[in-house]
Amino acid sequence: MKILIYPDAATASAQTANRIAAKLSSFPHAVLGLATGGTMKPVYAALREHLGRGPAAFTSFNLDEYVGLPPTHPQSYAHYMQTHLFDAIQMPPDQAHLPRGDAADPIAEADNYEVAILAAGGIDLQLLGLGANGHIGFNEPTSSLGSRTRIKTLTHKTVSDNARFFAPGEIVPRLAITMGIGTILDAREILLLATGSGKSQAVAQMVEGPLSAACPASALQLHPRTTILIDVAAAADLRLRDYYDTVHPGGLDDRIA
Ligand code: F6R
Repeated sequence: MKILIYPDAATASAQTANRIAAKLSSFPHAVLGLATGGTMKPVYAALREHLGRGPAAFTSFNLDEYVGLPPTHPQSYAHYMQTHLFDAIQMPPDQAHLPRGDAADPIAEADNYEVAILAAGGIDLQLLGLGANGHIGFNEPTSSLGSRTRIKTLTHKTVSDNARFFAPGEIVPRLAITMGIGTILDAREILLLATGSGKSQAVAQMVEGPLSAACPASALQLHPRTTILIDVAAAADLRLRDYYDTVHPGGLDDRIA
C-alpha cells in the first residue's frame, strides 16, 4: 500500500483527480470503477475541468446503488453521477454502468453486473471512498473478503450517515447492490480517498489493523497496486505516520500514471 498524506482535503482531492486524469490521458479507453458520496464531489469537480466537454472515451462501472431507487431519483447514485460528472463530460450512456436499483430482480441484476464487468475486460482503475465503519462500496463489516456483486443490508451507522442527503422524513434505503470485496480486489489498480477526522479510525484499521472482515477496507492490504490518499485529519490515528512522511513527504509521489 502506498500512503500519501496531504495537508488538507482540497489537496488530497485534487491529487486524486490528477491521477485519474493522468490514467485517462495515457489510456483514454480505460475502464474506471467509480464511487459516489460526499468525499468524491471535489474529485469530480476537478475531473470535469481536466476532461472538458468530452465526449468521454472511457467506460465506467459504479460501485453501488440503493435498492428501490430508480435512476431518476435525486438520491440515486445514477443521478449523482449524471449531476457531478457525466452530464458535463458528455458521457455516452452505453459506456456508463451502475446497478439498476429498481431492477425487478435485484439478485439477477447483481449477477449480471459481474458478467458485464468481465465482458468489458475488468476494471483498470478503481476509485474508492471509505465508510467511517471501514466499508468500501457498501461492503459493511463482516462482509466476506471474497464477496462478489450482491445485495447488502446497510448498517444503522451507514443509513444514519447517508440520511443527510435525503429530505427530512424521507425513508433512507436499507439495502444496496454493491460490488463485492473480491470484485474490487480484481481491479488492476485502486485509489482510495478519505478525508476528515471522522475517517481517521477507519484509515488506521484499514492500513495498520489486522486483515479482517471487521474492517472490510483492510482487504486492500492484499492488493498489489493500491494508493491511499488522505489528509492530515484522516491520518491522525496512524501509528507509523513518520514512516509514511519519510517515504512520501507531504504526499509527494513521482510515479503517478
Ligand atoms: C459510495 C460508496 C461508499 C462511500 C463511503 C464514504 O459509492 O461506495 O463506500 O465511498 O460511504 O462516503 P462519504 O464520502 O459520503 O463519506
